[in-house]
Amino acid sequence: MDLVQLAERIADIEARAGADLKAVAAIDALRGLESNVLGKQGSLGLLIASVKQFPPDQRGQVGKLLNEGKTRIKGLLDARMAELQTAAHTDNADDAAAFDPTLPGVAAAMGSVHPVTAVQWEVERLFERLGFTVEAGPEMETEYHNFEALNIPATHPARDMQDTFWLTNGMVLRTHTSPVQHRAMKKFGAPLRVIAPGRCFRYETIDASHENTFHQIEGLVIDRDIGLPHLIAMAKTLLAEVMKREVELRVRPGYFPFVEPGIEIDMNCRICGGAGCPTCKQSGWVEILPAGMVHPNVLRAGGIDPEQWSGFAFGLGLTRLAMMKYGIRDIRVLNSGDLRPIVAPARLGGPIVWPE
Ligand code: DAH
Repeated sequence: MDLVQLAERIADIEARAGADLKAVAAIDALRGLESNVLGKQGSLGLLIASVKQFPPDQRGQVGKLLNEGKTRIKGLLDARMAELQTAAHTDNADDAAAFDPTLPGVAAAMGSVHPVTAVQWEVERLFERLGFTVEAGPEMETEYHNFEALNIPATHPARDMQDTFWLTNGMVLRTHTSPVQHRAMKKFGAPLRVIAPGRCFRYETIDASHENTFHQIEGLVIDRDIGLPHLIAMAKTLLAEVMKREVELRVRPGYFPFVEPGIEIDMNCRICGGAGCPTCKQSGWVEILPAGMVHPNVLRAGGIDPEQWSGFAFGLGLTRLAMMKYGIRDIRVLNSGDLRPIVAPARLGGPIVWPE
């Protein structure tokens, strides 16, 4: 064999290896092919062993040819190995076997809108469709706005209906959103339709259904010939919309100094379905919408002539409504930093996952 023949033999081995490589689909098979070519007994291995057949003055050339051939073949084998390893990682049969779909998954911590905020937004959208303006008032109120403008003079026993946080500057933390009624009347005059969502504060002993900080949505409609039927129809629409079903309502007389007549609109307790539970104080009903026809004194204080105009007002218990909607039994979790109660986002319509 001369140098030319040797070069041809090497080229042959390289071409064969290249062709065989294409058919190799498994890493083991590739290793087999490698040893068939490069191993001591392999096609190139045997050729390398034959170096000594060449005369000493040619061995340098021979060695060079063989080494270059070996490097090229090794390159082909390595490239194919890399391909096979990548493929094995992508759909590794071992990984698939290690994945047990029956094990509980790892829950991803996800932020979501607070349930009270979610219901507030929902109510705002509804009223905006009905032509209402959304107003806000201050949480720190004057005594005048929180009481007097609402027909609750200083000597009025109704001042004791609400346990008030008095501030050292003589103002109060508003006990309800009703002061926004007065602000809205002054701002817009009649006719008007506004709602005013917001935080309210009371000096309460806290339990499962009482908080010192809670949310209401005040509503006020003033127009010609407004009567109780308008109010009750609106209450039905509002509660059915938020609860996503027909809601059973109960209407009772109620006393609030700023309305005459005053009513309490109750809804069927969603926590117990009406059977009675601690959230509804065993009555099966939840006071959700105190309301009434705006008292002439309140209209007058707002600069509106009660001979010309009439209106209704309501103070939706937003926090309570959120509890009803999402089945939240304990009001305290709403203001706590306890993230365990996981509220499924409203848009997913999911229930509360409640920690026991
Ligand atoms: N402000 C009252 C409260 O917080 C609720 C209320 C009752 C609001 C009757 C009204 C109303 O607008 O008409 O206890």
